[in-house]
Amino acid sequence: MGTEKSDTLIHDVPAGWARRAHADAAKYSSMYASSVSTPDAFWAEHGKRIDWIKPFTKVKNTSFAPGKVSIKWFEDGTTNVAMNCIDRHLARRAGQVAIIWEGDDPAESRHITYAELHDQVCRFANVLKSHGVKKGDTVTIYLPMIPEAAYAMLACARIGAVHSIVFGGFSPDALAGRIEGCQSKVLVTADEGLRGGRKVPLKVNADDALKKVAGIVKTMIVVKRTGGGIDWVDGRDVWYADEVAKASADCAPVEMNAEDPLFLLYTSGSTGAPKGVVHSTGGYLVFASMTHQYVFDYHDGDIYWCTADVGWVTGHSYIVYGPLANGATTLMFEGIPNYPSTSRFWQVVDKHKVNIFYTAPTAIRSLMGAGEEPVKQTSRASLRLLGSVGEPINPEAWDWYHRVVGDGRCPIVDTWWQTETGGILISPLPGATALKPGSATLPFFGVMPEVVDASGAVLTGACEGNLVIADSWPGQMRTVYGDHERFMQTYFATYPGKYFTGDGCRRDADGYYWITGRVDDVINVSGHRMGTAEVESALVAHQKVSEAAVVGFPHDIKGQGIYAYVTLMSDAEPSGELRKELVAWVRKEIGPIAAPDVIQFAPGLPKTRSGKIMRRILRKIAEDEVGALGDTSTLADPAVVDDLIKNRHSQK
Ligand code: PRX
Repeated sequence: MGTEKSDTLIHDVPAGWARRAHADAAKYSSMYASSVSTPDAFWAEHGKRIDWIKPFTKVKNTSFAPGKVSIKWFEDGTTNVAMNCIDRHLARRAGQVAIIWEGDDPAESRHITYAELHDQVCRFANVLKSHGVKKGDTVTIYLPMIPEAAYAMLACARIGAVHSIVFGGFSPDALAGRIEGCQSKVLVTADEGLRGGRKVPLKVNADDALKKVAGIVKTMIVVKRTGGGIDWVDGRDVWYADEVAKASADCAPVEMNAEDPLFLLYTSGSTGAPKGVVHSTGGYLVFASMTHQYVFDYHDGDIYWCTADVGWVTGHSYIVYGPLANGATTLMFEGIPNYPSTSRFWQVVDKHKVNIFYTAPTAIRSLMGAGEEPVKQTSRASLRLLGSVGEPINPEAWDWYHRVVGDGRCPIVDTWWQTETGGILISPLPGATALKPGSATLPFFGVMPEVVDASGAVLTGACEGNLVIADSWPGQMRTVYGDHERFMQTYFATYPGKYFTGDGCRRDADGYYWITGRVDDVINVSGHRMGTAEVESALVAHQKVSEAAVVGFPHDIKGQGIYAYVTLMSDAEPSGELRKELVAWVRKEIGPIAAPDVIQFAPGLPKTRSGKIMRRILRKIAEDEVGALGDTSTLADPAVVDDLIKNRHSQK
């Protein structure tokens, strides 16, 4: 991205917007200033946006000090998330639609009111209780994008159980690891999912997973989505609908401390197995709901659609918790952007008169490839605001989104955040922030970004380095499930006293932030986050593989693709067949999202004399930047690199 050019391409705040928006430029500046200079007073006021059973008297009690990281917000308050997302709205909104569900098949959709949501959630909460789930227990949810996913989340919240959602695209192995990690007695799944007309064998996967971790899950609750044939384990498996029909619709929300965990969500890091990111009850909900209101400039009556999957944090915070806490109508979409045609997103926008639309750059880029016609066939007149999340949005995709999808009328909020942050940290506020395509712009209230160099020195003015956050915000993760030491090591040891995001970033002369991507061994494929180490360990688990190194490379649609260098056992022969077998193997081990785009058989990997793989070189080769390999003087065997270059799979 041409720095100077993009820096000057400013889209000013549209006049009509500034009048109506929750914040204009002056209000943003003054609220931001007070949020960082007097965080206690600021959050004492905004903490009241949710209902408390026992109001808090303490606000912020946080420390990023090395070895003593502790994060508490509103710590003596008590509340319940389901009560905030449902019950408190009933007086005014019982008949208002809470969830619009749009099926994979365009002929299928449902409208679920707040009253119905209350009924469904209470019933399912009682079902969970009848299967022995108590406050503090974990429940694993492995569901497609159907309303039952939201019911199950909120039912857990209602009784104080901690949900752990596993994305429906993950393999039995990945599911098993996550069940084992948090020891869930109950698993909620479906017979099959439905995406783009294709069936996803969730129950089959769940059965396989439970064979790998026998004895943990006592009850599998199965939603009938397709009616496809499945195996059944008597005494363990029960139908969701049967259970709900038997259950009472009366279930009081359990009083939870603000700091009690609401959910955990496994996410990939640069090393080791995925970690369980733990989010809190009070601070998380305050932050999710406040960001949802301000960043999307949400007003009563708006129809809001986030296209994420509930298996990712975006689905947690911006399909379910943030919008429902605000009494919004949130759209939940089971399908994919190009089924039955590449007009689908925009047809859904027209069908349900969506005002606010939030998606990922990878979806925009893939739809861009189909041209303007599929968009222009639709009206999209209801759209007022567009959002982007998950990876940097290149200015070309930004422009297409703005010009073609939004007809040049709709501001774009490019929202930067992470599973760990619980909610959006850097984003424009529509009505307040002039936009620059490709920049996530400015920090949200209470968020203190800093750019540091490799030594940790804080850079000032226009600069480029690594992004850290200097102090806590209410939505921040509290710990790694069962491993606080790992939490401190992962996020607070690189730059002691600061939260390290793992992202690189540039700040321009206007103080705008431009996220440049991960600086660690995490890659972002179609907005899905993956540790290269996870893919490597899946590859080396194959009997013919002796060693593997995985790096990302720029990919036009996916943002990044997966490039795997594989060294075979001495008795194995490289072949096209084996390449296919290894791709299928990774799909099976982790899931389709982890399937390598490229496998290069490598007789050796470039290593330092101490045996460390020089990933920098592997990245350059994967990027086809072989003229710029940098310093190779520490290589144990330079000939290895020549071979890799010669046999590389050029992406150009
Ligand atoms: O690299 C950043 C990228 O996605 C990472 C977080 O991934 P995950 O935890 O899966 O959460 C994704 C949804 C919040 C970040 O470290 N990322 C996310 N949003 C943006 C982004 N990169 C650039 N611009 C964004 N708007």
